[in-house]
Amino acid sequence: MMYDLKEKIVLISGGASGIGFSCAKEILRAGARAVAIADINEANGKAAAEQLIKEFGTEKVLFVKTDVTNKSHFEEAFKRTLEKWKNIDVLINNAGTFNDSQYELEIAVNATSVVHGTLLGLQYIGKDKGGKGGVIVNIASQFGVDGDTSFPIYSATKSFVIGLSRSVGTPYYYDRTGVKIVTVCPGLTNTPLTHHSSLTETKFLFPDLRQRFMDRSKSVINQPTESVALGVITSITNGENGSVWIAEDNEHYEIDLPNRKALRK
Ligand SMILES: NC(=O)c1ccc[n+]([C@@H]2O[C@H](COP(=O)([O-])OP(=O)(O)OC[C@H]3O[C@@H](n4cnc5c(N)ncnc54)[C@H](O)[C@@H]3O)[C@@H](O)[C@H]2O)c1
Repeated sequence: MMYDLKEKIVLISGGASGIGFSCAKEILRAGARAVAIADINEANGKAAAEQLIKEFGTEKVLFVKTDVTNKSHFEEAFKRTLEKWKNIDVLINNAGTFNDSQYELEIAVNATSVVHGTLLGLQYIGKDKGGKGGVIVNIASQFGVDGDTSFPIYSATKSFVIGLSRSVGTPYYYDRTGVKIVTVCPGLTNTPLTHHSSLTETKFLFPDLRQRFMDRSKSVINQPTESVALGVITSITNGENGSVWIAEDNEHYEIDLPNRKALRK
């Protein structure tokens, strides 16, 4: 199920910063026709678009200020992208937050908006609804597979993303829509999300959980965003429908999540 990104139109939520921004850049470098960035941060969104326009040209970039937790707002980003380029081929549900002390917002951004995005993606990309078929990438986290003591709620939102993507990434949906769904689970990546300044603002369930996270982070590679972006591209081009990938320590590989019966103790 090889997929060619050349000349494709790609919509990226949270593309104004970090992993999403790197995805925008690497995807344009890989020959996509255009990238639309849907992000709530207007200043960063405009700066990101300016930077991409400088490198790739005006006709290849669009920024739409979007709050992805609001479905009709998110849909506006799809509509604006369609208006400009008449088609959407790939959606990357990447917007995320990392703060268990604001867990309602965290669940809204990391889980609910991925549902909005996945449903809208099927609707706008699906060949059953007038699209050409394509790919949805949902960005989860390594914590969504392993869980994490310092960030239990964040980890649960990411397990949700894996569960949703594996359930919709099944032949039933693909046969109707022609939309392949893949999940990418990054490990620690050098972005504002995990900077120490953001973590000092976060209230943890117990205060020593911050130190626990910091200590753990010291022993793992804080990979650059480009490594994840290149992994995302590989998952788009080579990934099977429903596949789950880890992008950690500058490596990118698919994992097999076994059937429950194989897990029986
Ligand atoms: N950085 C890491 O170590 C790491 C590890 C695993 C997974 N991830 C995941 O990668 C994704 C990208 O994170 P990042 O590290 O690049 O962080 P980042 O903070 O650099 O980027 C996240 C972007 O999402 C946007 N956003 C937040 N709420 C939004 C909303 N309601 N509507 C629209 N946009 C919104 C932010 O404005 C920001 O531009 C997230 O889903 C995150 O959970 C990151």
